Amino acid sequence: MSTELAIPTVDLADLRSHDDAAVLRAVRALAEGFGTYGLVYVRSHGIDAAELDAFYDAFLGFTARDEADKRALGRGDIWFQRGWTPPNTERAVVAGGQPDFKECYFAAPEPVDPVAASEYPEIYADNVWPDGADGFRSGYLALGHQLHLIGLQLLRGCAVALELEPYRFETLVYGGPHVTRALRYLALDAEQVGGPILWGEEHTDFNLLTLLPGGRFLDPDGARCARPDDQCGLYLRTRATPEHPRGQMVRGTPPEGCIVAQVGQQLEILTGGTFLATPHVIKAPLTPGYTRVALAHFVHVHAHRVLYPLEPFRRPETIRAYSPPVLAGTYGTKTLVDIGLAPPEALDQLGYRHYDRLGAMRAEE
Ligand SMILES: [Fe+2]
Repeated sequence: MSTELAIPTVDLADLRSHDDAAVLRAVRALAEGFGTYGLVYVRSHGIDAAELDAFYDAFLGFTARDEADKRALGRGDIWFQRGWTPPNTERAVVAGGQPDFKECYFAAPEPVDPVAASEYPEIYADNVWPDGADGFRSGYLALGHQLHLIGLQLLRGCAVALELEPYRFETLVYGGPHVTRALRYLALDAEQVGGPILWGEEHTDFNLLTLLPGGRFLDPDGARCARPDDQCGLYLRTRATPEHPRGQMVRGTPPEGCIVAQVGQQLEILTGGTFLATPHVIKAPLTPGYTRVALAHFVHVHAHRVLYPLEPFRRPETIRAYSPPVLAGTYGTKTLVDIGLAPPEALDQLGYRHYDRLGAMRAEE
């Protein structure tokens, strides 16, 4: 089902360089990758593979704890935006009620905007951490911060690629509800293999930009291993063309030493679809007992910013496609309800909530 496509690689050393030709090379790769495929591979990113492995070990130490320990960090009250998410909680919008067979951890690696935190207590919640897991916490925050800085560099390149002011996107994300997520896809037993259970149903991310430093498969004994079969793991779908109206499925395995960056819905909206959010799916193995761990960092637009095509991208068709303008914080609430992390009542926050006051006054008459 997959095709080997020429996904461009962006070298961050080029992007940071003072050599105009190098910068142009990186910017062109970004424009081609995000414009045509919705993703790029990233080189010279500075993420250390051994540090990532050590983090996954620490994460697996947490996931091996008793269910009760993990449940204590399962925070439905803050829509699971921090701490542990139990298996079968989140579901993709297209999944028709089928949840993903994974457990996750959420933490914010960047300081949050205190004003936005008072207004959006769920998406800007304080981090929570398991007891006695200092290595997990410090590794998590260090990797999340590094991934965030990579995201900011790419956003600067995106602005140049789109002929916007270089800091156009960075000003939109400063103080945003950025979140880093550790994921563990669970083992299927012999009866479940080949059935309807999904590791991660196909979806697009609702944030601005996603950084994926690369997951690891584990065999039934918990040892790191190669991909257990040829069809499992991360796949990304390219945009539709007349030749390929369903897009093409691309295996999300970057060249050696590279990580993946992909476009989320917020970047699609702001660019009027010039950059298109990348649909992606995590396919479970066809062999029982295998698991996979992964890390993802999500760069978000600040909750106060409006999601609507930026001025250069406003045309009748983009205005039709991305209207009405919506606050990013409101958009986040709606999406978290859609994917099953926030309760449907969360939508009641978005309108007037004090009709009962008039009701009580009238009852006095
Ligand atoms: Fe995703």
